[in-house]
Amino acid sequence: MIVSASTDYRQAAKRRLPPFLFHYADGGAYAEHTLRRNVADLAEIALRQRVLKDMSSLSLETELFGESLAMPVALAPVGLTGMYARRGEVQAARAAAGKGIPFTLSTVSVCPIAEVASAIDRPIWFQLYVLKDRGFMKHVLERAKAAGVRTLVFTVDMPVPGARYRDAHSGMSGKHGAQRRILQAMTHPRWAWDVGVQGRPHDLGNVSEYRGHPTELEDYIAWLGDNFDPSISWKDLEWIREFWDGPMLIKGILDSEDAREAVRFGADGIVVSNHGGRQLDGVPSTARALPAIADAVKGDLAILADSGVRNGLDVVRMIAMGADTVLLGRAFIYALATAGEAGVSHLLELFDKEMRVAMTLTGARSIADLGPDSLVSGIARGGE
Ligand code: FNR
Ligand code: LAC
Repeated sequence: MIVSASTDYRQAAKRRLPPFLFHYADGGAYAEHTLRRNVADLAEIALRQRVLKDMSSLSLETELFGESLAMPVALAPVGLTGMYARRGEVQAARAAAGKGIPFTLSTVSVCPIAEVASAIDRPIWFQLYVLKDRGFMKHVLERAKAAGVRTLVFTVDMPVPGARYRDAHSGMSGKHGAQRRILQAMTHPRWAWDVGVQGRPHDLGNVSEYRGHPTELEDYIAWLGDNFDPSISWKDLEWIREFWDGPMLIKGILDSEDAREAVRFGADGIVVSNHGGRQLDGVPSTARALPAIADAVKGDLAILADSGVRNGLDVVRMIAMGADTVLLGRAFIYALATAGEAGVSHLLELFDKEMRVAMTLTGARSIADLGPDSLVSGIARGGE
């Protein structure tokens, strides 16, 4: 297979993965309108071509919370990453560190915090949800601190899990799920050997450590449903703010009013995100939501953005619309499922090259040069 773009990794991942895992990553909520718009709206944003500006020296480097990033990209938290490749969180974290960018570990990772943090010599970021069991939250925050984590990503757009109909069809959840997943594993032998056999234990590493016994993946979807807390409000975040001395990002902001609340709360940054179209179908794409949010809070805190980013041009578009750093979700999962650490490293090189071409032809020598002027006006802000 010749992989020349991140879309090729999606095709390859589809072949390699048991369907329940492919569709869990690939799918979104309800009829998946927001999922499709995330990708389509970004692709619509027209970059402004400029020529003859001596672009012989160009830098993708940037800084966030005192940490230097080789490019303005970080890997997003993705639950069950360790089911997509053997000890997948470790492999993805190694690829990110090799490229000089941050890796974010999900609360619901397969590998526990210490296993991932000790595999690389760059601090990982850690993502936390508000869960009913505050004892668990405190426990993982302590583990994260002990493992040298500084940046905390607090995800707030999951007070309830979105309805993912693909999961019921694919065997991820629903009747006879366990038997269907075993059958699917048997018909995908490369995955079965790499992850099914050699990638054990398959559990929620952080949860198992807290409970003192292995948690079965079996009940993953049910566990999520039972533990998310619909009563969460800004007040609940205050003790975390006090407990955590490092930078704190609020992930899942899609409205400028909420962005202003995040500033009032004292967040160090926000992640403008609709969770990759996995929560409320029908909400705007990030591409549509970002410009107004940037108008409201740019300069008051760091603005990160995700959802729908599939190549380096999309990163450039997000930055031009006001993001400081961009998170990759599915893009890296498809590469990881296809070729492990090497796949993610290769994908990040593709992003690097694509960004360089886009910056050369828009006349931006540095990340700071990218802004509304890098876009053809009227199209980028067409959603407002
Ligand atoms: C996610 N996302 C996510 N977010 C989070 O805060 N904690 C998590 O555990 C997960 N888990 C998760 C699993 C899978 C399979 C996917 C695809 C996504 C959301 C993720 O961090 C990010 O917001 C989206 O993936 C961005 O959209 P794209 O880039 O995937 O389109
Ligand atoms: C998801 C959760 C785990 O999007 O964040 O599947």
